[in-house]
Order: sequence, then structure tokens, then C-alpha cells
Amino acid sequence: MAQSIAPNETFAQIFAKPTVAAMLELTPTGFEHFVEYVFQRAGYRVNFIAGVYDGSGLDLHLHTTFNGHDTLVAVVQVKRFTDDVAPHFVNAFAGSTLPHMGARGYLVTTSNYKADARAQAAKHENIYLINGEQFVRYINYIRGSRSEGDLSVVIPPESILVADSIQRRSVKQTRYIAIANNKGGIGKTTTAINMAQVLDSLGQRVLLVDLDSQGNLTQRCPQHKQVVPNPKHLGTYLSHQCTLTDAIRQTDYANVWLIPAAPDLRLIDPGANGFTASILDFARDIHASEIVPPRYQTLSDFDWVILDTPTAVEYRIRLALGAAHFIVIPTQVETFAASGVFLLQETANAISALTGKNGCRIAGALITDYHGRGSSSSDVSDKGTALRAGLSGSGIPMFNSLIHHDQGIENAHGKPPSNPFVGKWIQGRNKGERDYKAFVEEMIIYVNSNI
Ligand SMILES: Nc1ncnc2c1ncn2[C@@H]1O[C@H](COP(=O)(O)OP(=O)(O)OP(=O)(O)O)[C@@H](O)[C@H]1O
Ligand SMILES: [Mg+2]
Repeated sequence: MAQSIAPNETFAQIFAKPTVAAMLELTPTGFEHFVEYVFQRAGYRVNFIAGVYDGSGLDLHLHTTFNGHDTLVAVVQVKRFTDDVAPHFVNAFAGSTLPHMGARGYLVTTSNYKADARAQAAKHENIYLINGEQFVRYINYIRGSRSEGDLSVVIPPESILVADSIQRRSVKQTRYIAIANNKGGIGKTTTAINMAQVLDSLGQRVLLVDLDSQGNLTQRCPQHKQVVPNPKHLGTYLSHQCTLTDAIRQTDYANVWLIPAAPDLRLIDPGANGFTASILDFARDIHASEIVPPRYQTLSDFDWVILDTPTAVEYRIRLALGAAHFIVIPTQVETFAASGVFLLQETANAISALTGKNGCRIAGALITDYHGRGSSSSDVSDKGTALRAGLSGSGIPMFNSLIHHDQGIENAHGKPPSNPFVGKWIQGRNKGERDYKAFVEEMIIYVNSNI
């Protein structure tokens, strides 16, 4: 006989590796308690009312602190079903939610909802239908996004539904690439700007986005001397003072535009509870149809959006990953280089659970500023080989191209933007130029084979 209430240890195990199949192994009561456990981990205080016969058929009450008061914010009904949920269940649930003025109603199932059940739910503003696949993603997002016991953060389940309502562009239309690593000073910004320069030379239209309040990318990108200076930047957008389109600036490259950063960016913090909504807003806005190269107006899209991220500023790394299709991880070969990569991998897992289809995945790690010999990452010193082995153990591939230490790149750093970033591009005689060209070619092949 299966126990009617599974012990917490079982819940912790399913929470760590959630699948619909594992949830279906629980009894109906066990599943109700598991859902209670998940909402607790999401930051709610939960009253388990299933089996308390009050005629409502509701299973859980979710509370948070609102203006200092304990407040009922949502009611939940749980359906451990293998068949899709029929409309009469939705109607009954909507009816039992009504008396709880202002509270949201979450219907959670292991299966899915019939089309006419969804149509019924759509008639009610506060009813949210969460299917098995979405509940699994919700768990994965909570696990990578909220520290257990932190009472200041609540992650609402409709975040997943909001994410699914965002029209993300396909890779075929525009490739969104986040350049990220939790470790600093390893060539993120150098990679972003050099990718843009190579793509520009191929006639590809690029939007660079600087998410780092240090503004290194902004400083290093030669900007077009506009007649009317445009003071808007990413922070202006994030503080709701302009649209994202308003912040797009022309550069001195024919095909490259920039959303710049300014030091103010560091002061903008959506707060723990605005964190998820802000990631979703940014993803929606940067995938919106208005994001086009200004000079071409509505004629065409950007081919690439390249997002440069700050070191270890979790919120803005998450903004970039929420928008990205692919993540490139510049890394150096020294010991501990892998630790930053693993932290990033955890964040990427959480964010791709949130965004679902078309969400971010790690394209690979790219060795940068390499001082040794060898022309590809499979041909490097012991340290590089050790790094490759360490990363591949966690399923992180490494690009075959590698970026050598380049005097031109080193000299260009900190100079005014008129000084090109890879020193002078001397028609293939410059190592940095050759390496970044080879990397971009590899990246294009990778992206095209993952469309
Ligand atoms: N291939 C290279 N050859 C020579 N110097 C390099 C190379 N790549 C990066 N550098 C130098 O290393 C330093 C850090 O590079 P970069 O600013 O690109 O790293 P980052 O990861 O963006 O740093 P941060 O964490 O500050 O954002 C810079 O001085 C840069 O010029
Ligand atoms: Mg940088």
C-alpha cells in the first residue's frame, strides 16, 4: 500500500529533479502535499485545507505579508490527473475562488487542460491554469532563484504563464547571444565588441547591449557623432523613463547599433519581488517587433543581438539570459576558471526553466587571452585540457577556436573609443582579428545547425 502522505524527504527529492512521472507516482493526497511543499519553497505561507470539508473543494490557501499584514493572496486546487482537465472542473474552481475577493486562483494539474476548459478560464481574470510541464518549470525556476527560507521573496506561478505569452523571435529571425561568466576580467567585453566588428564586416546587422554599469562596452564602441546627442541608456529604460527603442544609438560601424550603459545603471534594482517580472519585461521588449536597426526602419530585423553582462551581478546576468537564445562563456585557462562557469550554468538552468521554449542554452566556453601555443582549444596546454575535461563533465562544450593574447587588444584597453579595439585590423596579420574571425565563423555554423 502506498502511503497517503509522502514524507518530506520524497518531496525534496522530486523538487531536486522534478518530472511529471515522479509526481504521478504520488497518491492524490501525496500530490496535494507536494504542491503545498512547492508553494512553501516559492515563499508563500500555506494553509493546507484539502479534506477540511467546507464545500469549496479548494486544497490550499496561500498567504504573504502585504503592508505588514498577513494576507490571503491565492487559493489553489490540485488535480493529479493523467487525462486533460475538462471544463466543468474549471467552472467549479472559478466558483469556489469567487468568495475569496481579490485572491488569485491557481489550478495545478499533472496533465493539461482541454481547449474548452481554457476557454472557460479565460472568462475569469484571476484564474490561472498551470499544467504539468509548466509546474515542472516553476519548480526548476524556484530552485535556482530563491534561497530557501528567505521570507522577503515570493515567486508567483503566473511568471511561467507570462513567460509563455512572450512572442520570442526565432533563432532564424534574430540570434540573441549573451556573453557571460561569473568571473571577471576574462574577456567578455572584448568578445562582444570583436564579434560585432567581425559581423559588421560580413554585412550582418548587430545590436550590442551593454548591461554593465562600468560601461566598458559603451566606452570601447566607437559611437557615431549624432547631431542630437542621445542621453538615453539601458538604465533610462529600466527605470521606465524611455522605451528600449529610444535607447538605441548609432555607432561608427555601418551595421552596428548600441544600447549603452551609464553608471546610474548600478543603482537600479527592481527589488527581490520585482526581479522575475523585470526579467520577463526585458525579454518581451527586446524581442518586440519594434526592435529594428533604425536606419533600415521596418525593412529588416537585426541579425544578431549581443548582450554583454557584468561580472557576478546576478540580476543583470539574468536579464541577459532571459533574452538570449545562446550563451557564450569567455574563460581563461587558469585554475578556478571553471567555478565561474558552473555558477553561470546554474543560473542558465533556472532561466531556461522560466522562459521555456526558445530559451537560453550554453553554446560553449571560449578560451580567451591565451598565452600559449596551439591554434585550437583541442591543442592547448595541460591547463586547457584540464579545463575542457572539467567542463565537459558538466555537459559544457568548448569552442574549437581560441583567442590568443594579443598586444593590440591589450593596448586598446582604456584608450578613447576612436582607438579600435583590436588595435589596427591589418588584414589578417593581427592575431586578435584572425582569432575572432575564426570564432565568429564557428559561431555562425553552430547557430545555423541549431535553428
Ligand atoms: N585576447 C586578449 N589579448 C590581450 N588582452 C586581452 C585579451 N582579451 C582580453 N584582454 C584584456 O583583459 C582585460 C579584461 O578584458 P575584458 O574587459 O574584455 O574582460 P571582462 O570579462 O569584460 O571584464 P569585466 O569583468 O570587467 O567586465 C582587458 O584589459 C582586455 O584588454
Ligand atoms: Mg566587461
